[in-house]
Amino acid sequence: MSTASPTDIRIPRDLLPADGRFGCGPSKVRPEAVRALADAAGDYLGTSHRQKGVRSVVGRLRSGLSELFSLPDGYEVVLGNGGTTCFWDAATFCLVERHSQHLSFGEFSSKFAAAVAATPHLDAPEVIESAPGTHPEAVAREGVDLYALTHNETSTGVAMEVRRPAGASGLVAVDATSAAGGLRVDAAEFDCYYFAPQKCFAADGGLWVAACSPAAVERIERLRGSGRWVPAFLDLGIALENSRLDQTYNTPALATLFLFAEQLGWMLHNGGLEWAASRSDRSAATLYGWAERSDYATPFVTDPAQRSHVVGTIDLDARIDAKAMSAALRANGVVDTDSYRKLGRNQVRIGMFPGIDPDDVAALTACIDHVAGALS
Ligand SMILES: Cc1ncc(COP(=O)(O)O)c(C=O)c1O
Repeated sequence: MSTASPTDIRIPRDLLPADGRFGCGPSKVRPEAVRALADAAGDYLGTSHRQKGVRSVVGRLRSGLSELFSLPDGYEVVLGNGGTTCFWDAATFCLVERHSQHLSFGEFSSKFAAAVAATPHLDAPEVIESAPGTHPEAVAREGVDLYALTHNETSTGVAMEVRRPAGASGLVAVDATSAAGGLRVDAAEFDCYYFAPQKCFAADGGLWVAACSPAAVERIERLRGSGRWVPAFLDLGIALENSRLDQTYNTPALATLFLFAEQLGWMLHNGGLEWAASRSDRSAATLYGWAERSDYATPFVTDPAQRSHVVGTIDLDARIDAKAMSAALRANGVVDTDSYRKLGRNQVRIGMFPGIDPDDVAALTACIDHVAGALS
């Protein structure tokens, strides 16, 4: 082993990606969007979120997301403050009627199940687990009024197809925090597709968005009238009323809304979800193809059909210390390639959201090879 510190390793400039941000959230914000924000700032930042300027951005977001996801008539885009974690709590009050079923296959998918399990007014949830690096399947059951799926498990790099369990009558609610905008989805297969904009939508965190079917809206409205106590901040009925007016219940981060709308506009302008997902497909083909050819790197997810095209997890063999690898990359301006801390593997994790240039993913693999050579 070399005795030099990993951070002393110098990657030749011609190998480096044009942009070195590969984090899985917050993830790369396109410089063009930041410039557009700076250009608009004088009339936009520091203005009321109840007035036309900000509300028109929220309106653009709501209609743009309907277009991006080809939402059928009657679906509504609802938004509020607090990010996905807040939405889980809101769902325990306003979406789960009594009994939910959860697919649990990593850190994030387990969290919603834990939130429901801790909720005194709900029955204990059914939790179907599978080992990290795989995903389980939902099973239709009588008495389940909400099926909780996760489109992309960010902690492990596993993606699953969004599909209603055959014969199920409950709502299908999908955590799409790291999937929305980068993986294909058919709106007929979900009732609530919720996410936050710090990943594919290349903005900051702190906001949640939910595309809701008429059945989900009906559930929200019915539970609202049921007498169940709901904290106002977590009340999806209040969020729905405000969203219909293109505003949020309390003050949102205006820069986040703007960056989100810019990224969405960029996707729609270039061809929509199919175009955005194709960029992630290209990055994923590059990353997994490289790992499969490598003699020291292996895709963590063994089933190619379950490998995420937006979050790639690559195990390194014992000769290459992944922490040293990420430290060396970081010292060269290539950042946030660390694996998910609680997974505890000798692994790098690579964001491949649509905003990340597929050519930069190719450059990243060359950088990793260079560092691996220097480390071993
Ligand atoms: C799949 C998934 N769900 C939920 C969350 C939590 O989102 P937030 O930080 O917006 O609460 C994350 C964050 O990384 C995530 O990746």
